[in-house]
Amino acid sequence: MANPQNGIFALGTASHAYLEFDARDGAGEELVGAVAALREPRTTMGGVNLVAGFRPELWRAVAPGHCPAGVSGFAEAVTGVDGYAMPATQHDAVLWLSGSAYDVVFDAARGAIAALSGIAAVAAETSSWPYRHDRDLTGFIDGTENPSLVDAPDIALVPEPGAGAGGTVLLLQRWVHDAAAWEALPVDTQERVMGRTKPDSVELADRPDESHAGSTDQDRFGHIFRRNMPYGTVTDHGTVFVGFSAEQGRLSAMLDSMAGLTTGVRDALTYYTRPVSGAYYFVPSIEALRERSAGGSIASSALASSSREETRSLA
Ligand code: HEM
Repeated sequence: MANPQNGIFALGTASHAYLEFDARDGAGEELVGAVAALREPRTTMGGVNLVAGFRPELWRAVAPGHCPAGVSGFAEAVTGVDGYAMPATQHDAVLWLSGSAYDVVFDAARGAIAALSGIAAVAAETSSWPYRHDRDLTGFIDGTENPSLVDAPDIALVPEPGAGAGGTVLLLQRWVHDAAAWEALPVDTQERVMGRTKPDSVELADRPDESHAGSTDQDRFGHIFRRNMPYGTVTDHGTVFVGFSAEQGRLSAMLDSMAGLTTGVRDALTYYTRPVSGAYYFVPSIEALRERSAGGSIASSALASSSREETRSLA
């Protein structure tokens, strides 16, 4: 049986970093091997979850038979009605690190970048943190319609015995909020935009079809597992959308719907927040990843040193 990368399901972590990498010319295969060789710091306390994914075409070229047919990168912008566009900013690999505090995430991220230097460059970096326990920066509770951890693997993971079993398709998008426009709305208008109540996330009895929850309705498009996080500074912030699915089609159908391609009407939320990045990654099973691991001792030594530092600071 193929096991998923554990960090996908590690809830409750207060600090996150998303690093996207581009391989240097011709170094795609080497990058996969080096990423596969990365190891999180070994500790029973203060650990870091490390989740690695790859541009689907790159992973398929390196690991044929370990990628579901048809999964592809975010090659073109999703162009919706009124010239609305969700940009494509695909890179070769992603690392998602999460932990209890930013110091451990920071050290592990720096170790990973050092281990990959010479093979790949960081193309994008975002760090994120929870806001008021379970709210995104719209002030609404985010994740209400997520599956529980008991059900999430069935929704997020490619089932046995298919190619890529135990892996998952990740959609990573950074959305910048227009906080001034959003906060100028009365709360009942915000609730109609979202389709749920603000204090306690109850679905509106007369939920508008163009509300965000209406235009991503999982009864229509299939279920996904979201790990969204707030990111940014006081003056420039938003949401990192982090969505996992066993099938890419569920995620892309939701984006099409949000852009207005399904009904001709855009998701009401898209008037208050705008995507500035978009990439799909295939996040393989632990076993498929381990098989591709190259020179583990070199790649892991940089992370091991941050682990030693951490152990010292805990002592
Ligand atoms: C700025 C970006 C986004 C924000 C702030 C946001 C926020 C929210 C909130 C507050 C909810 C309602 C509570 C819940 O069920 O979690 C929700 C629901 C949902 N969102 Fe988003 N979201 C964003 C982008 C997206 C994107 C890009 C997708 C899909 C590709 C998506 C998929 C969903 C789904 C599937 C639901 C549940 C719908 C249902 O009721 O079945 N969201 N989102």
